[in-house]
Amino acid sequence: MRVRQTIAASIHLLCSSLLTELEKPLDLTSQAPERNCTVTTTQYHAFLYSTANFLFPIQERQMRYRWTSQSAVFKNLGWLQALWASRKTNSQDRSFIEQQIELYKEGGCFKKNEVLRRGVEVVEWVNDLIDMFA
Ligand SMILES: *[C@@H]1O[C@H](CO)[C@@H](O)[C@H](O)[C@H]1NC(C)=O
Repeated sequence: MRVRQTIAASIHLLCSSLLTELEKPLDLTSQAPERNCTVTTTQYHAFLYSTANFLFPIQERQMRYRWTSQSAVFKNLGWLQALWASRKTNSQDRSFIEQQIELYKEGGCFKKNEVLRRGVEVVEWVNDLIDMFA
């Protein structure tokens, strides 16, 4: 019970901060552009790494405790999935993947479609995780 609540709360917290980011209108002119691609790609890869480090223990716990689709963990994973993949979760009509693509477009630091591809990988992982709930 305690583990489940803690995990549900941590996903909820992550989703709340993603939503806050998504609600910000994209005004690229107001941001100091990071012109160093080494810094940009390192930060992006660190972000993906921490996302994986966040999801992996949840997957492990789910294999052990087998929570159902009635659980708050399931509900919050659904929210996380929607924030990453859907435009309908926020007032800016932009998925988190689309926001990342927009943010990184100017810099030209990434290979074609890399941000999209890696974002889709995260969503697929979350989808697999969601499928583990009976
Ligand atoms: C980019 O940043 C890295 C790490 O701070 C630094 O080693 C490198 O010299 C910088 N490159 C340019 C072109 O400024």
